[in-house]
Amino acid sequence: MGEEQKIQITALGLFPYKGVNLVRGVHQVQHLDSLETFEIRDDDIVVVTYPRSGTTWTQYILSLLYHEDQMTEGSNKPIQELVPFLEENSRQIDYNNQPSTRTFTSHLHLSSIPQGLREKGKVIYIARNPKDVAVSLFHLQNFTKVLKSEPDFNTFLIQFLKGEVLGGSWFDHVDDWYAHKDEFDILSMTYEDMIKDTRGAIVRISNFLGKKLDDQTIDMIVDKSSFKNMKEDPQARRDKQHPEFFEQSGSFIRKGKVGDWKTMFTVAQSEGFDQIYMEKMKDLALEFDWKL
Ligand code: A3P
Repeated sequence: MGEEQKIQITALGLFPYKGVNLVRGVHQVQHLDSLETFEIRDDDIVVVTYPRSGTTWTQYILSLLYHEDQMTEGSNKPIQELVPFLEENSRQIDYNNQPSTRTFTSHLHLSSIPQGLREKGKVIYIARNPKDVAVSLFHLQNFTKVLKSEPDFNTFLIQFLKGEVLGGSWFDHVDDWYAHKDEFDILSMTYEDMIKDTRGAIVRISNFLGKKLDDQTIDMIVDKSSFKNMKEDPQARRDKQHPEFFEQSGSFIRKGKVGDWKTMFTVAQSEGFDQIYMEKMKDLALEFDWKL
């Protein structure tokens, strides 16, 4: 029996891999194992996030910064091809033969990221208020066909708090990356920063990457990467690129709001969540300016 057939699937339809719960058929163990020694180059850029934290938005911004055609109406390509997930390789591309500058994305926990990233390359780490992440992930869980649907939010929230959902434990992901961020050439931002001052966030990203942009180019990137534009652009949307994986109703780019958790959490759920957050994040809690 091959290794892929032996893997165990959790109640939510995921397979656990080094702390990050992944999707069978999208992620392959052999490819994941190869990543630890994947050769990183000086000019590689990797967007790292826990799922539903602004990954697609940041991927889209990078695609506009590094791929000229993305700015031209009608000639843009799927962002999953331009800024692919390190941990997915369904197209069987040998990234070792890709020209520089390579731009990647990853949901991997710190423990399974390529070792070389500590010496070379740049990381952009985006974190988001975990209550909004939980709500966004709940909708995704019920929108994909590859994951088992869980219609009860309370059940899902318990699974989220235990780290049983796609991406594993939010707490471990953010805590580990923040605790070790000095070991990387890293820009860390929050989704809330990006919403509050999108232009400022784009300037921070481009400065970090050593790109000097004129005002007109920055304005174009702000406009193109707006929620409205991305929602209308099939190249930005996984559900449009891979309709076979998604239900008809819903959108991978959903609401794009800060504080949407208030529409789902009860007072008791919120208080219980706060307690766990304060216990697990006691050293980090003050670093984030989101309102739990
Ligand atoms: P919601 O479900 O709260 O709407 P990821 O790309 O990491 O999976 O994150 C998805 C979340 O980012 C979704 O949140 C999605 O709507 C939001 N998002 C995607 N593009 C955005 C944009 N341009 N501006 C604001 N939010 C965006």
